[in-house]
Amino acid sequence: MELLLIQSQEHKTLPLAELRAVLTTEKIATEIEVPTTGLVLLKSLKKANFFESYEKLVRRLAYTHEVDELILKTTIQDIEDDFKSIEWNDYISNDFAVRLKRFDKVNIDTTAIERRLGHLILLSNERDSNASNDNDNNKITVNLDNPESFIRVVATENEVFIGIERIKLNKKHFQDMKPHKRPFFYPGSMSPKLARCMVNLSHVKEGQLLLDPFCGTGGILIEGGMIGAKLIGSDIHWKMKNGTSINLDHCNIKDYQAHHIDVRELKLYEKVDAVVTDPPYGISTSTGGEKSGIIFHQFLESISNNMKENALLCIAAPHYLDFDSILNDLDFELLDRHEIKMHKSLTRIISVIGKIN
Ligand SMILES: C[S@@+](CC[C@H](N)C(=O)[O-])C[C@H]1O[C@@H](n2cnc3c(N)ncnc32)[C@H](O)[C@@H]1O
Repeated sequence: MELLLIQSQEHKTLPLAELRAVLTTEKIATEIEVPTTGLVLLKSLKKANFFESYEKLVRRLAYTHEVDELILKTTIQDIEDDFKSIEWNDYISNDFAVRLKRFDKVNIDTTAIERRLGHLILLSNERDSNASNDNDNNKITVNLDNPESFIRVVATENEVFIGIERIKLNKKHFQDMKPHKRPFFYPGSMSPKLARCMVNLSHVKEGQLLLDPFCGTGGILIEGGMIGAKLIGSDIHWKMKNGTSINLDHCNIKDYQAHHIDVRELKLYEKVDAVVTDPPYGISTSTGGEKSGIIFHQFLESISNNMKENALLCIAAPHYLDFDSILNDLDFELLDRHEIKMHKSLTRIISVIGKIN
């Protein structure tokens, strides 16, 4: 079975890297095909755990807008005939909408095709009802506002994909969790989508221990909590440590510890499975009076002892920090790196780092 993913195009590499990380973490065996930027096919998914895999992807991914079960692949020329060949009663029982999304600037009339395909579904339903002499039963209708069945058509330059959205992504969460909408706000918290993506890049699993030792308002921890990780947050400022608790409680996240401690003195009883963090470096976030290069170096030294052997660290840093020479000094290796241009004078570097054992 196959899944069709429509990904965010707000960043070149992060959406695909996040997807690969989740597939590995959740042990979802598949082949990845990228027909065009922003569109991904996951092929050869096992039928037995197809919906389990589908649900895990939907629950975790931040930079994916939609996940659909692929019904069939066709072309613009053959779309009507192939659409008619589908047993729509197997997919739709009440109401539905057909929506078409174009990639590669394909020149087609989106609304006209959506209408035509919707009409074909109604005709196929009518034909089936007549054949079974059952006019009322299984009568399906169009509902463009809140359809029970959402049929997705994706047109690229060479192919057309027809799918159905079986499980919806919770896009509202990322809206509601924007830093200024949480009960405790302080400037300098990253977007919830980037925080979730970093959590995913750390390969942390449900039930495992995730640490953010510069937890601030708890933005990263919230995202870790949403995928079921056990959380430890700490911060040099008690006000931030308390703020993290306020925000985690607000999200009904219960499995967490919050500590008021300088990262350089952090000694946990239990080593963690992953560290995801955004250390201070700008004007809007306090460095506790220390230069950020020194903080990064001291942080990495101290954090290594708190990480399990195969634990990963996903960290955000400014482009001007010579992170590589800090890593060279210590027992860490760089595994993956992504750049995010914030504005003219700041690029954020997201690095995934492992311990050298
Ligand atoms: C960029 S903010 C983290 C933002 C956080 N991700 C959020 O969602 O709000 C950095 C945090 O590091 C804390 N901090 C600075 N120096 C520290 C140190 N030596 N040990 C622990 N925390 C420190 C600051 O108080 C600040 O809350």
